[in-house]
Amino acid sequence: MKKIVLTGDRPTGPLHLGHFVGSLKKRVELQEICETYIMLADAQALTDNYDDVNKVKTNIHEVVCDYLAVGIDPKKSHIFIQSCVHELPELAMFFMNLVTIQHLGHNPTVKAECKQKGYNEGVPAGFYLYPIYQVADITAFKADLVPVGLDQAPMLELTRDIVRKFNTLYKKEVLVTPEAIYPNLKGALPGIDGNKMSKSLGNAICLSDELDQIAAKVKKVKSDPNRTSVNDPGDPEKALAFSYLEVFDPEIRFVEELKERYRRGTISDKEVKDRLTEVIDTFLKPIREKRKEYHQDRSGIEEIIKEGTRLAKQKAALTLLEVRSAMGINYKGFC
Ligand code: TRP
Repeated sequence: MKKIVLTGDRPTGPLHLGHFVGSLKKRVELQEICETYIMLADAQALTDNYDDVNKVKTNIHEVVCDYLAVGIDPKKSHIFIQSCVHELPELAMFFMNLVTIQHLGHNPTVKAECKQKGYNEGVPAGFYLYPIYQVADITAFKADLVPVGLDQAPMLELTRDIVRKFNTLYKKEVLVTPEAIYPNLKGALPGIDGNKMSKSLGNAICLSDELDQIAAKVKKVKSDPNRTSVNDPGDPEKALAFSYLEVFDPEIRFVEELKERYRRGTISDKEVKDRLTEVIDTFLKPIREKRKEYHQDRSGIEEIIKEGTRLAKQKAALTLLEVRSAMGINYKGFC
């Protein structure tokens, strides 16, 4: 039996290098050996973008183009729209009974997001509850593996908790306990300012960026602040460009040489960054070109989402039947 993979993204903007290193690359590998579902988490995105529905809607198309451009294959991965799978909120409704408001209040990711958004006292209920919906996303597909960033750890913990509670309470092993797959430490690629790479922080290099956009962003990449001239010895650990080069430059020995020259003070930051621009552009060029082709084929993209969503609904509906049956509320013939 193939393992099942479920993961998703909030469609609020184009995907970036952080997504690639942190998760997309892994998904492309996993789709070869697992039954894979990839969710466009539009309903979750709306919990903090309900006043800009159009942004979420248009980014569904953009994100799917990003997926396909990096090698996610719709024949192997089912790409679907979260809000079209009506079984998900139904499942979340049953899970609401198994979690306290107090417990939800301790979720560190949600807490940090509330702070960032300035919600303080007035947190929209939909936003506060999104972790429960995410548990439904994962369990509806009986996912064994969930490749996500480390910030998603509290959601995975909550999932495991609810699965255990549900199966114990209703005395049936209906739900599957998922395992998270986190990027290795080297994989946590920071944004150009050193913070977490994020579209909303404006520090991301997008998969769709053209050469001039890449060059402009690389120029802003943080260097060793103690260095005032080319001849000052620098610390490559403090120059972010090297973190990127280590991930994207195929010539590892050359990067080591650049680092050594940086330490000795025989190379300018500009020279390091010129190399980085070239390396990133070489990496992104084929992705960008494929992306453009997909982008023009609107009906092709729609077909992919339609088929993926059909299969996702089928899978979730089967789980819901089992869930209702375990709870003793299948009301045969009534619903
Ligand atoms: N919360 C995830 C993010 O912000 C998106 C997401 C929604 C998700 N549902 C999921 C990820 C289920 C994994 C599994 O990126």
